[in-house]
Amino acid sequence: MSTESHAQRTKLLGQWASAMIQAATAGALTGDPRKPLNIRGIETVAGPRAGALEVDAGLDAGKLLRVLTADGGALHRQFVPFAFVGEPSVYLAGRYVRLEAGWPDGLAECDVRLSSIGRHPRGDGRWIAGKNEYGQTITLAIDDTKPHYLFGGWTGSGKTWAMRAALAQLSQDQTNRLVLVDCKWGDGLGCLAHLPGLVGPLATDTETARAALSWAVAEMRRRYETGDKNGRIVVAVDEVQELTGKTGDPACTEMVRQLASKGRGARVHVLLGTQHPTVDVFSESQIKRNLVGRVALRTEDYKASEVVVGGPSPRADWLLGAGDCYAIVPGAVHRVQLAYILPGELEALNTGTPEMDAWPDFDPAAAGTLPAENGVRWEYNGDELAVALVGAHLGHGRPTLVKSLEAAGLGGPGSVRAARLLDLGRATYAWLLNNDWQLSEADGLPA
Ligand SMILES: Nc1ncnc2c1ncn2[C@@H]1O[C@H](COP(=O)(O)OP(=O)(O)OP(=O)(O)O)[C@@H](O)[C@H]1O
Ligand SMILES: [Mg+2]
Repeated sequence: MSTESHAQRTKLLGQWASAMIQAATAGALTGDPRKPLNIRGIETVAGPRAGALEVDAGLDAGKLLRVLTADGGALHRQFVPFAFVGEPSVYLAGRYVRLEAGWPDGLAECDVRLSSIGRHPRGDGRWIAGKNEYGQTITLAIDDTKPHYLFGGWTGSGKTWAMRAALAQLSQDQTNRLVLVDCKWGDGLGCLAHLPGLVGPLATDTETARAALSWAVAEMRRRYETGDKNGRIVVAVDEVQELTGKTGDPACTEMVRQLASKGRGARVHVLLGTQHPTVDVFSESQIKRNLVGRVALRTEDYKASEVVVGGPSPRADWLLGAGDCYAIVPGAVHRVQLAYILPGELEALNTGTPEMDAWPDFDPAAAGTLPAENGVRWEYNGDELAVALVGAHLGHGRPTLVKSLEAAGLGGPGSVRAARLLDLGRATYAWLLNNDWQLSEADGLPA
């Protein structure tokens, strides 16, 4: 950013702020000179992609928000003193009313190279995400409070570049081991196929993805069983909607669900990228709920924004694309221009060879249950398993499963035992579905 553009942005924000104060004081915002709005102060923020005003309107905050958002923000647009790109937005941020409008080409800063803002922060599951609106470098991390991340945004918003930058940095820490799945035939994460720390080959089809995820689930289980929680396992899936949800692969959906719901304690983490952040993709939102960290890039519409952001605001559908995002972690939201790594620089990081040159075969049992706590081993008999399997086929949940077991004279299992049986039935069912229920002559049955 040149000093000239910097001065220009500062000047425009100053004009915008004075125009707002003048109009509020004169009653122009309410259309009634007898009803001025009281503005106590305005902070200006020159972000990389958008300029913003943070308006402290005290008790008039609600009124100010109302007049500025009415009629599709018609009034708000009149005050922005530059040819903004995208949709200007108005929302409550803390106790301020925040007005944002995208800089036109000459003033925007879309180009934040990772090498220009720092080296990757080694260790602790951290990576440099980019630059926030105050020019500060924002670092994200996978840890106990943010074990898993969602990268969501429509096509071309910058998900893959964001995941590449994160994974390239994570690969530089020897305590991280990476599992990469790219459901776009390697177009996205293919350039990371030789990063250090890869466990196995990049998976680019459902069969390999199933094998890779089954390794990750088995490793999670091993970690729980042995108590060995050394280092992190980072499982990254780009375009996860191809693999999970209603139209995806049931076994993969189940395994991603398990990793997202139980991975934290075993230090197994998932980073999921999707252009279709719908509830369907995340199967009953069970997966989504566990993706605590969010990198919300520009979404197609408000509905998708709600899913990625996890609430009605801020609006990811009003972001400007190409790495403009809200980085959301518990207790903090930053508007960030994401840093990227040039393809040539990525090439230079591809110095590794995966530990395994092929994934072990998909193990349906790996998509089963976790070991029981306190050394208790659960055992189920064939009748119970049959009921669980039929229940899974019918889409029953735990309460119905318990009723069915009682009705079959198999006693009333406790809730933990029933939950495990439910998991087992679902995993077996998923495995059967994936194997197309194929009966062959070897089964002694007519094909
Ligand atoms: N952080 C960034 N800074 C600048 N430009 C970016 C950034 N991220 C992405 N872009 C630009 O946007 C383009 C699309 O990015 P990317 O391939 O990551 O999108 P995507 O969201 O993965 O899209 P798709 O859904 O089609 O895979 C890139 O080719 C690049 O030109
Ligand atoms: Mg992509």
